[in-house]
Formats: sequence, C-alpha cells, structure tokens
Amino acid sequence: RAVPEAYPDGRPVQVVAHRGASEDVPEHTLAAYRKAIEDGADALECDIRLTADGELVCVHDRRVNRTSNGRGAVSSLELADLATLDFGSWKGRLADPEAPERYDLAERSRVLTLRRLLELVADTDRRVELAIETKHPTRWAGQVEERLIDLLHHFGLDRPPAPGGASQVRVMSFSSRSLRRVRLAAPALPTVYLMQYVSPRHRDGRLPAGVRIAGPSMRIVRANPGYVARLHRAGNRVHVWTVDEPRDVEMCARLGVDAIITNRPRQVLDQLSSM
Ligand code: G3P
Ligand code: CA
Repeated sequence: RAVPEAYPDGRPVQVVAHRGASEDVPEHTLAAYRKAIEDGADALECDIRLTADGELVCVHDRRVNRTSNGRGAVSSLELADLATLDFGSWKGRLADPEAPERYDLAERSRVLTLRRLLELVADTDRRVELAIETKHPTRWAGQVEERLIDLLHHFGLDRPPAPGGASQVRVMSFSSRSLRRVRLAAPALPTVYLMQYVSPRHRDGRLPAGVRIAGPSMRIVRANPGYVARLHRAGNRVHVWTVDEPRDVEMCARLGVDAIITNRPRQVLDQLSSM
C-alpha cells in the first residue's frame, strides 16, 4: 500500500465536503462549496446530472422536487428552467446563521453548474480536490462522461498538473460501466468505485479492473471493519461516506481510511486535529 499523503496538520486522512458544507448551507449550492473551502476541506464532493439541453449541473436526486421549489426530472428540464428555481429555501432555517450575510442570495439558492464549480476551484488560492460522482449514467449512455471529460479538459483537470503528480480530480460512481467510460476517455483520471453493499466478487478486497479507490458506505465499514484492511491489502485506497458522527470519524481514523466524506467538514477537521 502507498504511504498515506499528509494533509494540513500532518493528518493522514483527507476530509471531503459531501455536497459542500451541506449541513450548514443548502447542498450543491455555490455557497455550500465556498463554506467548505473556508472550513478547510481538502476536497469537494458533488453529484452531476445532465439537463435536457446537455449542461452538467450539480444535483443529487433524479428530480428537483426535494431540493427546490420546482418539480420534474433534471433530464427533462433545460438549464434556463432550472435557473428560475430556488434551490435554497427548502432547507428552512440555515444551520449556519451567518450564511445569509456571508453569501448572496444567488449563491445560496441558484442551481450550480459543474462549470461554475470548476471555476471556483480554479480561483481558490490553495489546492482543493474534486470528487465528482456520475449519477444515473445509463440514462444518457455515455453522454454524462463525455461532457464531463470535455469540461475537465477545458480546465486542464483531466490529468495531473505535472507528470507523475496527483490528479486534482477523481470520478466516482456506483456504476463500474461509467467508471470504465471515464478511464477510456481520460486514462489519467483516478476512479472511485462506490459501494452500498459488498457484492461477492469484491469480498476479497479486489475492485473492478482499473479502479484503485474503493468508496464503501460507513454502514459497510461499521458492519465489517476488517474490510478496510482487506481493501488496503489488495492495493486500494479507501474513501468512506457519509461520515458525520464523532464515533464514526474515530473509527475511520483508527482503521486508517484514506478519505472521510462528510456533510460536516469543519467538525470532522476539528475532531481529527484533537486526536
Ligand atoms: O460520496 C459518495 C456518496 O455521495 C454516495 O451517495 O447518495 O450521497 O450520492 P449519495
Ligand atoms: Ca454523491
């Protein structure tokens, strides 16, 4: 297994903000990602979907009903339709009471395109990594991955900044087919195989061909802590989601996972630095 990287404070584990600092600020908004960067997150997680007119937007659910005042599937709406919706108010009172003063209304409530998120990362004066998850890639038969790679290429993010360096972006999916498409189009991009349960073919810690990072749920890790070591022994890194409870953070740190994906980046960073 590769020697773990060290993050600020000498931490061996990377802290990834799940949908931004999504406990404090509405998920997948620009404000949620700004807050995650201010909080010190090492990386940002986002889910991407394709609109009817071929734009990649950061939305988790198939439909916009939960996180906006609109209705319907993202794939049946155009970006201009999505831009009229409010993606902020659903969260009610913001967990971060200072958010309204710190972020303007558009940043707290407007649909976020992947392009805008990449601009934010490019404008940040420290290295912030991105963990981008392709959602329902079968619906679009490769178009999500194609658009994603085009956009990453435009920002120079489809490969490490220097030969032999670490990529700033990785692509995650529950679909090994989606990850295969990404590797074919951009072989230098690391891919993460997400797992909601462990299928028999991955019980020994091996992943689909070409994938070197496992993304098991915290539920898997809690039920079977030895699986982390098995994944490591098979030569993989381990990125666990979604880790919000202090006892789970403690368990992940003890097991030596490589990344913790959390809705609460500030609290997790504080806990890790006090260990
Ligand atoms: O980071 C992986 C995790 O986000 C997968 O689950 O449903 O939150 O996208 P979900
Ligand atoms: Ca996700």
